[in-house]
Amino acid sequence: MAMAMARAMARGRLMSRFGSAAINAFGFGRERAFSAMGSEAVAASVASSPAAHMMESQALMQCEHQHSAHNYHPLPVVFSQAKDVSVWDPEGRQYLDFLSAYSAVNQGHGHPKIIDALIQQAQRLTLSSRAFYNDKFPSFARVVTELFGYDMMLPMNTGAEGVETAMKLARKWGYEKKGIPKDEAIIVSCCGCFHGRTIGVISMSCDNDATRGFGPLLPGHVKVDYGDAHALEKVFKERGDQVAAFLFEPIQGEAGVIVPPDGYLKAVRELCSKHNVLMIADEVQTGIGRTGKLLACDWEKVRPDVVVLGKALGAGVLPVSAVLADTDIMLCIKPGEHGSTFGGNPLASAVAIAALEVVQEEKLAERSAELGEEFRGYLRDVQQLHPDLVKEVRGRGLLTAVELNPTGLGPVSAFDICMALKEKGILAKPTHETIIRLSPPLTIRLEHLRLAADSLQEILECGIEKLRLDAKSQAPQNLPEPCDRCGRHTCR
Ligand SMILES: Cc1ncc(COP(=O)(O)O)c(C=O)c1O
Repeated sequence: MAMAMARAMARGRLMSRFGSAAINAFGFGRERAFSAMGSEAVAASVASSPAAHMMESQALMQCEHQHSAHNYHPLPVVFSQAKDVSVWDPEGRQYLDFLSAYSAVNQGHGHPKIIDALIQQAQRLTLSSRAFYNDKFPSFARVVTELFGYDMMLPMNTGAEGVETAMKLARKWGYEKKGIPKDEAIIVSCCGCFHGRTIGVISMSCDNDATRGFGPLLPGHVKVDYGDAHALEKVFKERGDQVAAFLFEPIQGEAGVIVPPDGYLKAVRELCSKHNVLMIADEVQTGIGRTGKLLACDWEKVRPDVVVLGKALGAGVLPVSAVLADTDIMLCIKPGEHGSTFGGNPLASAVAIAALEVVQEEKLAERSAELGEEFRGYLRDVQQLHPDLVKEVRGRGLLTAVELNPTGLGPVSAFDICMALKEKGILAKPTHETIIRLSPPLTIRLEHLRLAADSLQEILECGIEKLRLDAKSQAPQNLPEPCDRCGRHTCR
């Protein structure tokens, strides 16, 4: 009720600001923000030497460009400090984080409880390797399995490692339990999927940039259209005896926050059970409250056979991933067959326990569900005013996408809009040419969401002509090429 009233008020404000050319940064003063961070010294130094600090971001970006591989295309913002939903650059400019490191920072930057757990543990023991036991990992294993309702977990570090682990587990299960002939196991995955960047994982990718020049890719994969249970059934009917697993994202994040049709997850569950195929949910991005439930699969009350967690399991503090499964599946992997030096390390274990406690104590999943609805309401108001520019607003919880209309936008891309949002203190990252993904920390407040919607509205209202002129004056962008795998321009 309170939320609905707040939204109505916000709508009023959104409307009253329409047409206003005045572009305000959001309402926190820099001084206040820095004193909240306990960083008056930095603020003072910014004030006394603005020119020198103006160089700082530029110099840092240049240094990185010179000495690091060019494997990303970042927005030109340098993170220097962060607290909860706010980020500061070296010059003291404050931004709101609407990416959360691709949903790794669900609990907000530098959550005191999680940082405290990190410090306490770092002072005691950081690494044993699993050549020995340590006194923290058992608690992590118990907490995570009890919370998500599985018998066992296998700890890793990054999301891609978690997915690789699930794939290996599925193959092993396929041979040992399902009786798939040696080296014939197939893992079915979805067009448009994103599961990370290792060779095993990109072997399922539809992204030409991720695959071209990195062949030969691994055999043993078949692709189906995402969200199409009939297509999955066809594959299972044709090749079911060889299929060990169906690996999927309950909502495709990198593809542009693609929410499957209602009933899809249930249909997948039924098909996997019927054909004795492991249902593997990659919840690396969607899990741990991001979509408004603890797991995105909970939206259809579906229990996958295997769940992969990552990102927010380490709360943006440390890389922590885990694969969850029941004993009959997990024990297909025997000692010496899989592992990682850092997987299950006591430092990561302490952080992950605190990360999960914070999600529960602060009811972050529930918060995400409510705030996400409100946010999409604000964004749909913007869409109503600019139906020529905004094609769709979609998502679940605080995993939201604004898909722009390329015809209306002309040469302006989602990246250009994100650059304009940055100027207003909102940090978001495009996915593909026309989609802006908005996934702030789950601790964000309503007024921040309102501000982001206001900012987008102002850009579309007042800034779009300038963006069009700027985009026209730049070299023409390459048109997206069709997918090497399926020949389509979009795997959706
Ligand atoms: C669904 C999904 N799976 C796996 C990964 C890979 O995680 P990492 O970058 O930690 O390897 C990502 C990263 O964005 C992801 O979104």
